[in-house]
Amino acid sequence: MRNRQFGRTGWEVSEMGYGMWGMGGWSNSVDHESLESLQAAVSRGCNFYDTAYVYGDGRSENLLGQTVRANRDKRLFTATKVPPRNKQWPARPDSTLEESYPPDHVEEFVHRSLENARLESFDLMQFHTWDDGWLRDDRWLYKLDDLRSQRLIHAIGLSLNRWEPWNGVRAVRTGQIDAVQVIYNIFDQNPEDELFPACEEMNVAVIARVPFDEGTLTGTLSKDSKWPEGDWRNTYFVPENLIPSLERVDKLKELLRDWNQEHSEEMTLPEMALRFILTNPNVSTIIPGMRKLSHVESNIAASDAGPLPTQLYGELKHHRWVRKPAPWSD
Ligand SMILES: NC(=O)c1ccc[n+]([C@@H]2O[C@H](COP(=O)([O-])OP(=O)(O)OC[C@H]3O[C@@H](n4cnc5c(N)ncnc54)[C@H](OP(=O)(O)O)[C@@H]3O)[C@@H](O)[C@H]2O)c1
Repeated sequence: MRNRQFGRTGWEVSEMGYGMWGMGGWSNSVDHESLESLQAAVSRGCNFYDTAYVYGDGRSENLLGQTVRANRDKRLFTATKVPPRNKQWPARPDSTLEESYPPDHVEEFVHRSLENARLESFDLMQFHTWDDGWLRDDRWLYKLDDLRSQRLIHAIGLSLNRWEPWNGVRAVRTGQIDAVQVIYNIFDQNPEDELFPACEEMNVAVIARVPFDEGTLTGTLSKDSKWPEGDWRNTYFVPENLIPSLERVDKLKELLRDWNQEHSEEMTLPEMALRFILTNPNVSTIIPGMRKLSHVESNIAASDAGPLPTQLYGELKHHRWVRKPAPWSD
């Protein structure tokens, strides 16, 4: 596993990190399997773990705490997120800081997350939603600085709204934050336009989330895919989203089949999806969601395979898909 610099923090994080949403709240998550997968990742050199309070209201944070305590001899980097008080995903331009992240709410949830994980501190505390309009009110920053000086958190990050990579560029340019988390994958390439140059200039770490587009880029979904009642993917993968996504995935499968034939390779779609992201040096770490042990093994192996060959990378650049937030994408 290769490591990369995490912006200006001085941390050396594994380029393949770990996304912990699924194990907190998606259907069919089994804690002992999740713990086994987490441990396998630790043993293979993965040292960056992303969770959030809302991932099972503490369930995922608790699994992270257990993993940290089981590996006291290793330096594992822990990242979590404060939920917005108004429970509004994504942040709306007309909502205020007072409605979303008032200082007392931020403090309360930092303590709640620490209790869930039974940890003394988190390395990275992120706001789970963001709107650059909140920069007008700097109380959020004073509160996070205060929590940092108490050593309850060590660095500050923002998780940007789905398909709004531009809505965070101003925050990056203030020089006040250490990391941004953004959707970046073969389809969603537009963080490259404004966000990544700003992060490079300000030495802000980039966490690439949703590398498989919530599943389509694994190649395992079909137009009949359904999940147990209550699983959020039933309302996300509505036909309006699923059908065009699968059409685009079919084109990627064709491209990969031709590539493998011409080069006598056996690259899989998930491997290509991860190596596409790894090829961009602006990315500090990628956080695939993975509950199954076999997924941990193959995703971490993608780091060993390294960046994509230039020709294939160039062809994938044409698969950019610019999407706008929709009622089903919240
Ligand atoms: N607003 C936010 O801040 C926000 C929003 C979304 C996500 N995130 C973060 O980003 C992380 C990643 O996003 P995500 O988990 O939503 O979606 P994702 O990483 O794009 O996709 C996860 C899905 O891919 C499957 N998978 C993983 N590796 C695979 C492989 N090698 N082959 C086949 N299938 C594979 C997983 O299966 P199994 O789980 O069954 O192994 C899971 O169903 C989250 O876990 C979370 O930490 C943050």
